Amino acid sequence: MQTLTNNRFIAGKGIKLIDDSGVEYLDGVSGTFNLSLGYNHPHVVSKIQEQVGNLTHMSSSFTEPYVNEVLDHLIEYAPNDINAGWMRDITGSTANECATKIAQKYTESTDIISLYLSHHGQTQFATGISGNAFRRKRFPNSAVANAVHVPAPYCYRCPFKSSNGDCDYQCVEAISDAIEYASSGSVACMIIEPILGNGGNIIPPAGYFKRLRKLCDEYNIILIADEVQTGIGRTGTMFASELFDIQPDMITLAKGLGGIGVPVAAVLMQSRLNVLEKHEHSFTSGSNLISVTAAKSTLEVVSEPGFLDAVKRKGEILGELLHELAMKYPSIGEARGVGLMWGLEIVGDGNEPDTLKTNAIVDRAFTDEHLILRSSRYGFGNVVKVRPSLTTTEDELVEIVERLDSVLASVH
Ligand SMILES: Cc1ncc(COP(=O)(O)O)c(C=O)c1O
Repeated sequence: MQTLTNNRFIAGKGIKLIDDSGVEYLDGVSGTFNLSLGYNHPHVVSKIQEQVGNLTHMSSSFTEPYVNEVLDHLIEYAPNDINAGWMRDITGSTANECATKIAQKYTESTDIISLYLSHHGQTQFATGISGNAFRRKRFPNSAVANAVHVPAPYCYRCPFKSSNGDCDYQCVEAISDAIEYASSGSVACMIIEPILGNGGNIIPPAGYFKRLRKLCDEYNIILIADEVQTGIGRTGTMFASELFDIQPDMITLAKGLGGIGVPVAAVLMQSRLNVLEKHEHSFTSGSNLISVTAAKSTLEVVSEPGFLDAVKRKGEILGELLHELAMKYPSIGEARGVGLMWGLEIVGDGNEPDTLKTNAIVDRAFTDEHLILRSSRYGFGNVVKVRPSLTTTEDELVEIVERLDSVLASVH
């Protein structure tokens, strides 16, 4: 399981958390991957402080001018004629619900396809459409009748036992079969994470998304990219949809959009999909002014000239360092990632997933090295995730990997 700690943290500075005895911990995973700009980015902090002094909240009936500024900025970067948006959520889970409701209303169809190992949130509905059924245990309402789950493009452990390059994309073929035999025949949408984050930092092979888009077009299925983890510069582009040329019809965002951990979410869509009435999907705190200000000021930072190029450069450095670790330690089956979104697949002697060792690495990193890491599937998986804030310095990247190296040496 994940690290349990008695530490009382009282301050956050850059990518460091500081406890009440003054000990600094290096956060290698930016909170829960949401601190895109670290704990206290000065621009975001000052804009929020200013907003709190003026006006913290008013009904979402009046926030439209503020929301539109954020949406306009996001849309500038959005692919595939995405030119409208919705900001009445504060979490990724309900943003995904919003997107699937839109798809259902627009297509007048019911079913939602998603990938094994996907994570789309923790409301009962979002749990139900996610591809990690263990989280439904004891929660019968999280079994979503219209959810259809299909194999993930997990090349390292290919569900069809192919090796990279000679697979004929059987995982895409399998989706046609699922539409034919596992769906009701009335499919509204498919929701995918460009990189399966919680499932283990799984990156689909080149060519996968092109085939997926073609399949969605053949069956008139709306393609939703859940960019709650990958969005807002995490992969070195504003959206991973751009990096992988996914051509989605909708994009959902949360986490990194709040910059320093302020909860905020957004759904971006082509204008034909802007079909919801306000009363069909709104929350009291959705589009509150603190969230909207956090999003606006975060986007100002991320879109500064050179910012995303720096993320790409730092991503390459991190990738090189982690690949070196993978050469050194047989416990690392694979280091995979892009930008500042990396995972180490931890394996046993027979290359089997080693969850115990994975959790030992995360725990020892915290206790022995004061390095904060996380593991996949909320501690039930075998991937150690390394995803520092986008503002991390190159020296901090080296420090993270050096501390991880010491932990791996002790666990090994
Ligand atoms: C890809 C993805 N989608 C959706 C969610 C849910 O977001 P939230 O926790 O803000 O509801 C998460 C959270 O981990 C996520 O990783």
